[in-house]
Amino acid sequence: MKIEFPKKFWWGAATSGPQSEGRFNKKHANVFDHWYEIDPDAFYNNVGPDTASNFYNSFKEDITMMKKIGLNSVRTSIQWSRLIDDLEEGTLNEDGVRFYNDLIDEFLKNGIRPVINLHHFDIPAELYHKYGGWESKYVVDLFAQFAEQCFKLFGDRVEDWFTHNEPMVVVDGQYLYQFHYPLVRDGKKAVQVAYNLVLASAKAIEKFREVNTNPKGRIGIILNLTPSYPATLEAKDVEAARFADLWCNQMFLDPSIHGVFPKELIDVLERDGVLWESTIEEEKVILDNTIDVLGVNFYHPNRVQQPTVSPNSLTVDWMPTKYYDSYEKRNRRMNVDKGWEIYPKALYDIAINVRDNYNNIPWFVSENGMGVSREERWLNKDGMIEDEYRIQFIQEHLYWVSEGIKAGSNCFGYHLWTPIDSWSWMNAYRNRYGFISNNIHTQVKTIKKSGYWIKEVADTNAFSV
Ligand code: NOJ
Repeated sequence: MKIEFPKKFWWGAATSGPQSEGRFNKKHANVFDHWYEIDPDAFYNNVGPDTASNFYNSFKEDITMMKKIGLNSVRTSIQWSRLIDDLEEGTLNEDGVRFYNDLIDEFLKNGIRPVINLHHFDIPAELYHKYGGWESKYVVDLFAQFAEQCFKLFGDRVEDWFTHNEPMVVVDGQYLYQFHYPLVRDGKKAVQVAYNLVLASAKAIEKFREVNTNPKGRIGIILNLTPSYPATLEAKDVEAARFADLWCNQMFLDPSIHGVFPKELIDVLERDGVLWESTIEEEKVILDNTIDVLGVNFYHPNRVQQPTVSPNSLTVDWMPTKYYDSYEKRNRRMNVDKGWEIYPKALYDIAINVRDNYNNIPWFVSENGMGVSREERWLNKDGMIEDEYRIQFIQEHLYWVSEGIKAGSNCFGYHLWTPIDSWSWMNAYRNRYGFISNNIHTQVKTIKKSGYWIKEVADTNAFSV
């Protein structure tokens, strides 16, 4: 069977500044740099973000390899902590400006579309310590100022901008389930941060509309969509799945595309006394500044069961405990290294949801991927990793993307996480995701079998299975 894709389809991969560049020459620490300084034990094998994949130093050679494997578009992010010198005044850091200029030019020189995101879990630590980071509306305004600087500096060459990557992970990780610094557990704050992130995105978009002069310029947001399926057909699980969908997906999707939050979600938050503080002016900014384009990160679905514990203490300790992903893992196909279910058809469900409920907005798979530990198990005698499992994983997901496109969904591309094995937060280098492997001791990079495979797909816009 031959699976074909539309002309000009984006074949690419995604990374982020904090996970690839390394800390070299940065004036400010972001929250992860800071966390590593104070608690290196929080990171797998005590490996922090100081070197990451050394992209700051090796971006030219790395981009040559990305070109070699046929990628026509690559996403990375601009680190606020690198670009801006005085975070409040918004003055620029010369080295940061030079680095991102060179980087963008290098992508273009190699025929690769630079796709630029502005916030990838990496708020400057100073803004957290002084103002509470995303808890503060002052910081929201500083973010819009940083975004404006980026549009002015690089907008002549960058056409595709994104405000946040996976803002839901900031809410869940930093403010509820304590897997990202500052490890807070506070439902009321979590809800306020979610709102502030939506507002920050809208304010950045507002700046974009004011200062962008590139006729091809467009802006969006990248959301990790996790379709939420009830684990059983019992009413309590169906209801729990509905809440999971509201919390994980619609909280960002609805305001980004329709300019308003779902009423159902507001009702629950209001009932539980945790609704965010907002003003009419802010709500108008959100309504007026919706996105042009959507990035969808998809890894796994939610299988939702009503938890057996009752969702009590609904005020200060409020947690969205109405959803709970505990459905028997043995009933599912799992990526054992990552503990995530593999369910490619969810991408088709996303495609149809976007088509029917979100104005059929242009979207692309901005991340999808398979984290595998000890990948050196698959090294062949020539030193290449034979990652057949990754090729199969991508094929299955692309199959459902193509079915979505056939059904009329407006999907224009597919990016794997990630081009070159990169540093992955607390997991550091435990799981590898790239088309290209990276020896973290020598920084030698080698194309994997999947890298050669994607080149053929990108060249022919099709693959056969
Ligand atoms: C999503 C995030 O955007 C990225 O930063 C992370 O490393 C990958 N998922 C892999 O877990």
